[in-house]
Amino acid sequence: MKASPLALAATLFAGDAAAQFAQAAMMRFQCSQLVIERMDPLVNPGLLQSGHVHQIVGGNSFNASMTPVEYDLAAKSSCTTCSFSEDFSNYWTANIYFKGKNGTFKRVPQMVNLGLKGSGGITVYYIPPYDGKTKVTAFKPGFRMLVGDPNLRTKKSMQKQICHRCEENVEQSPFGGAPCTGEDTAAFPSKPCPGGIRTTITFPTCWDGKNLDSPDHKSHVAYPSSGSFESTGPCPTTHPIRLPQVMYEVIWDTREFNDKSLWPDDGSQPLVYSMGDGTGYGQHGDYVFGWKGDALQKALDARCSGDRCSALKTQTVEQALACVKQQTVAEPVEGWLTELPGGMPVTYK
Ligand SMILES: *[C@@H]1O[C@H](CO)[C@@H](O)[C@H](O)[C@H]1NC(C)=O
Ligand SMILES: *[C@@H]1O[C@H](CO)[C@@H](O)[C@H](O)[C@H]1NC(C)=O
Repeated sequence: MKASPLALAATLFAGDAAAQFAQAAMMRFQCSQLVIERMDPLVNPGLLQSGHVHQIVGGNSFNASMTPVEYDLAAKSSCTTCSFSEDFSNYWTANIYFKGKNGTFKRVPQMVNLGLKGSGGITVYYIPPYDGKTKVTAFKPGFRMLVGDPNLRTKKSMQKQICHRCEENVEQSPFGGAPCTGEDTAAFPSKPCPGGIRTTITFPTCWDGKNLDSPDHKSHVAYPSSGSFESTGPCPTTHPIRLPQVMYEVIWDTREFNDKSLWPDDGSQPLVYSMGDGTGYGQHGDYVFGWKGDALQKALDARCSGDRCSALKTQTVEQALACVKQQTVAEPVEGWLTELPGGMPVTYK
């Protein structure tokens, strides 16, 4: 596991985007599972149970009401599931369920990404432009954003760089290149994936410099007006502040569901997202900034890379795993369930 897929890629794909991705300095760290529950303080503030199940990682002050600025995650949390111990942010995504032939659902467990340690959860990236010198501005206290749309059932109008990768093996070898390139698909993979599915969720990288949030949780951020963030493409004049690129990866361990005899006889694929999305196009991610003080800016200025950095404090895997939170409203999310939590109907269009 020590020879990272990134280093490997540098030799296999020298000169192209994958090699640039492989060689760029970027924070990449484990945030283990905090809780799986139906709560969404970003989209449904104050609501103790929202529509669909999310897996949440990060600071344990995660709560239905997290009023921007006033609710200081770093002050209210007593622990975090992230390996950088000053990161009390909350990161969350939908969960994947396997729909069996008899119509019942079972949550697809998760694996920890290559080279990292912990349990389930999300691999979090903070990526600066690949040139190694362009400055990015850390998020301000109270900042939050959403990327993707849980209601989408077609590729049309999907945001950029949100995808699935069907892994041949758990070593993720050969490395499939930069995220959302090559064989990666916006939809769920159509065939069983022997090494599980790696999903990637990438956030926009330009900020309006004023609003910590917006009614759709998206309009205060934007994509570069030309070129790519990675190649220092300029931010639009409406959103002039260059942010680090926040990216999530989740490794879904589909191995217990890969036997084709368990799959639908009509050749369709059996996975659904917790909001009842049978297509995969509804994949989305939520972010509520909660780093302590100026720790994130320091880390970005120091060009921290990987999950260890002299500019940041880290904690042990045991400490991170000791940070847990009970469901606010208890309900089963594991095992064979007769319906998706919240009774979400499965839709394909
Ligand atoms: C959320 O936080 C507020 C303020 O700290 C607290 O009063 C409330 O009990 C919390 N709610 C839950 C569900 O934990
Ligand atoms: C449905 O199928 C799964 C496995 O295929 C099985 O474990 C479960 O008991 C079944 N449930 C019902 C209600 O038949």
